Amino acid sequence: MRHAMLAATLAASVAIPATLANATDLEVTHWWTSGGEAAAVAELAKAFDATGHKWIDGAIAGGGNTARPVMISRITGGDPMGATQFNHGRQTEELIEAGLMRDLTDIAEAEGWKDIVRPSSLLDSCTVDGRIYCAPINIHSWEWLWLSNKAFEDAGVEVPTNWDEFVAAAPKLEEAGKIPLAMGGQPWQSGGAFRVMLSSLAGPDVYKKVYGDKDTDAAAGPEIARVFEAADNARKMSAGSNVQDWNQATNLVITGQAGGQIMGDWAQGEFQVAGQTAGEDYTCLPGLGVNAVMSTGGDAFYFPVLQDEEQKKAQGELAALLLKPETQLAFNLKKGSVPVRGDVDLEAANDCMKKGLDILAEGRTIPSGEQLMSQDSLNQINDLVVEFFNTPSMTAEDAHKRFVDIVASAD
Ligand code: BGC
Repeated sequence: MRHAMLAATLAASVAIPATLANATDLEVTHWWTSGGEAAAVAELAKAFDATGHKWIDGAIAGGGNTARPVMISRITGGDPMGATQFNHGRQTEELIEAGLMRDLTDIAEAEGWKDIVRPSSLLDSCTVDGRIYCAPINIHSWEWLWLSNKAFEDAGVEVPTNWDEFVAAAPKLEEAGKIPLAMGGQPWQSGGAFRVMLSSLAGPDVYKKVYGDKDTDAAAGPEIARVFEAADNARKMSAGSNVQDWNQATNLVITGQAGGQIMGDWAQGEFQVAGQTAGEDYTCLPGLGVNAVMSTGGDAFYFPVLQDEEQKKAQGELAALLLKPETQLAFNLKKGSVPVRGDVDLEAANDCMKKGLDILAEGRTIPSGEQLMSQDSLNQINDLVVEFFNTPSMTAEDAHKRFVDIVASAD
């Protein structure tokens, strides 16, 4: 009798999926609050909820610069979330060193991440002292100029094919009542756009010397002086761009009020939500049409160390799920980014994503700013660039000198 009961109990427990039996709420923080970003993160939540667990969405508005300090202070202050987005690279160095982030090496090994993640530098950016601390979920590249075909049509000029043509078209755009260059007010946006000008106009080698080697001779050189001249053009072209958030600036391009925006490929999510088609409604120029390279940084999920066993299990399940082919495809198509695994069928990718995939296949890649430089040093550059954009009296030469000083003390 006892045996029969035991057998029945066992049968009942087998019938309930293990995941449902241990269903757990897991809070996941991120800074994905624009329309395209929300659509993409909803795919992750859907996949996680399908396991029986519950994704408790912890979106923090204001972009990475605002969200990251909140996330970090929660983790250091003893109020950790179940999982959190960061850009992989150097943003989490101190949290990992302090032992606050979960070591995912066992999951990475069980799931074969080393064999599937490409380029391998993505996983390297998750690795500290041989241990893996994050689950990379996409390749996001910064190096894009997004152009509104309508704005150029209204102004009676051809859609530019490179940065110089864009600058030359600015007066015509202005005559037609357009803002040539849309630029949001947060420092990370102008700092990011500057970095794109640098890698595109001065070229990837100079970029790696400056951001990677912190080479002050390269930083002080004539190539960078020319980048500051380009930044001077950019600040004039964006003078009427009175918006804060990056997606508000993208919206100026989508609606044809602005000619273009220098922004990461997450902008594609916004064009998609607005029902626009790459090639028809908008044009994308990788590397500003000059040096078509892509930085291979992106987003990754990190998992703070938790004590609760159920939560720990749910963390592990989420980490594994994030790199599954279906999750990768659903998320990245909405996000405008490229999957971290090369074996995902990207038939549905739009023209711009396809350009990105070609660049990736040809190996024309550079490390992201977040992989090369500490966030503190990047923030100093961002602050300088935003000050330059907001201060017409600051000359390109003055800004360049201050840039060299920052590079000299950067780490
Ligand atoms: C993230 C993207 C995000 C963008 C704007 C970047 O740091 O990598 O995923 O879409 O910020 O919020």
